[in-house]
Order: sequence, then structure tokens, then C-alpha cells
Amino acid sequence: MRHLMSPMDLSVEELDQLLDLANDIENNPKKYAHACDGKRLATLFYEPSTRTRLSFEAAMMNLGGTVLGFSSANSSSASKGESVSDTMRVTSCYADIAAMRHPKEGAPLVASMSSLIPVINAGDGGHQHPTQTLTDLLTIRSLKGRLDNITVGLCGDLKFGRTVHSLIEALVRYENVKFVLISPEELRVPSYIREEVLTNNNIEFMEVERLEDALPDLDILYMTRVQKERFFNEEDYVRMKDFYILDKQKMELAKEDMFILHPLPRVNEISVEVDKDPRAAYFQQAQYGVYVRMALILTLLEVEV
Ligand code: CP
Repeated sequence: MRHLMSPMDLSVEELDQLLDLANDIENNPKKYAHACDGKRLATLFYEPSTRTRLSFEAAMMNLGGTVLGFSSANSSSASKGESVSDTMRVTSCYADIAAMRHPKEGAPLVASMSSLIPVINAGDGGHQHPTQTLTDLLTIRSLKGRLDNITVGLCGDLKFGRTVHSLIEALVRYENVKFVLISPEELRVPSYIREEVLTNNNIEFMEVERLEDALPDLDILYMTRVQKERFFNEEDYVRMKDFYILDKQKMELAKEDMFILHPLPRVNEISVEVDKDPRAAYFQQAQYGVYVRMALILTLLEVEV
């Protein structure tokens, strides 16, 4: 039995196979419509979500399976003091696979230790969000045709942004991927990413504060939201929240074949006028999230079609 806690739980070969499967699902959805008949997915969400929870549920339903779960800690027995270990052990009696989101780093890992079914980390605090990374990789590979030889700009909250941490860890395993890390000083990537993931792997990267300086060189611009829920005080959040706003004028600096990704939700960091730009790929990215989660469910349940 396998769990997915981090993109590093999958080898590059396994990642590529999973993305191939997702593309096949995209092109031949009917082939997979009954692949999980009789199977159940539990969505255990202790933190709010729109895309991750709904795309997991859509993924299981597209495969012919059913879903059960809760969408907030308050509506579960966590509110009575139940541990994630006990919740997970009990959920193993009701479902075949589970996706867990939790505000505490490592909670899905703790849950997986008492689980009798595969557990997927659907986002743990400011740590990792591996299924968002699978979504991002599928989007980049589908739009650019490759995951190697690209320059990726990551912009916004790189300190608490778990999608950023997971994506960097996944992409450093591909050849000649360069990073431009665009953030205010206070929201730079954590030192373990800079030192253990980038420097130790001899990855070319630079850190800049101005988005305009980075834009002309990028193949992918990955925008992120400044996350109010991760700040300890309101004053710091208010100071940072509108630090970056990507608008039509700034997009004039970007390459014609650069794509904009964003894990969403967006607040102000991408002006809605940019949505009409053919380079805006963030809604398409959300659609890819369903295909890749279908592929992941099939892989972890060892269902062959
Ligand atoms: N991208 C993402 O994780 O979105 P949700 O928080 O809506 O699930």
C-alpha cells in the first residue's frame, strides 16, 4: 500500500507515467468511466478548499466511484478532540482511499501511519501540496510539451506557499530547469528550499523583488496568493497583500509563449483583465487537476484499465 505525502514519493519515471495516464484520461474519458465502480474516496478536509476537494470528488465520480467525507474540522469529531490517527483508522473501515487536508504540517503523514488504506496529502499547512504539484506538472507539460529546459518564475508568498515548495522539489529533478524567485524580503522561500533543494542540487536560481525585472525571461510565471490565514498579525498581511498585481501592462513584458499558472484561489494578484490573455492558463490548470487526480486514484488503488 502506498501513500502520497510529497511529490518526492514518486520517482521521475512514475511521475511521467502518471502524467501519461492523465493525458490518456483527458483524451479517452469513457474508457475510465467504470474503473472504480464500487470504490469509495473519503475527503477529510480540516481546512477550507474549493478546487482540491471538489476535483478529488469529481475525479472519483468520473471513475464510477463514490465519495464521503467532511469539509471542515467543525463538522467532524475533531471538534470533540478526536486525533487524526483515530479518525483515519476509522475512515479505513468506510473507504478505499482518502485525501486529507490539514492546517498542521505533517498531519496527513501521522494519519497515514494508522491507516489501512492509501492516504493522499491534500495540503498540510505551509508544507506540501503534492496533488497541486501533479496538476502543475501536467499543465506545464501539456502546454509547453516538456518539463525540462524551462525558466520558471514563482511570484508572491514563497515562504508559506506550500504549492511553491512542492513544485520546486518536483521540478529540480528535470534537466536544465531554472528558477526566478520573486517575492518581498519577508516572504522569501524558506532556507531549507534554498539550501537543501536548490543549492545542493546545483540548480540555477535567482531571487528578485520586482516582477517586471523577471518577466521577460520566463517560460512559466507561477503566481501565488499572499495567504492571510498563514500570517500571525493582520498588519503584516495588509502590508504584503497587494505587493504584486499582474495586469495587462505588465504582460506586455512577457514572452508570447509564456504561460501564467496560479493554484488559485486568486485575490488581487492577477487582474481579471488578464483572464482574456491567451497566456492565462490558470482555469485550464484547474481542469487538469481532475485528470491528474483520476490518474493518482487509479495508481494508488492499483486499478489497471
Ligand atoms: N489550489 C488549491 O489548493 O485550491 P483550494 O484551496 O480551493 O483547494
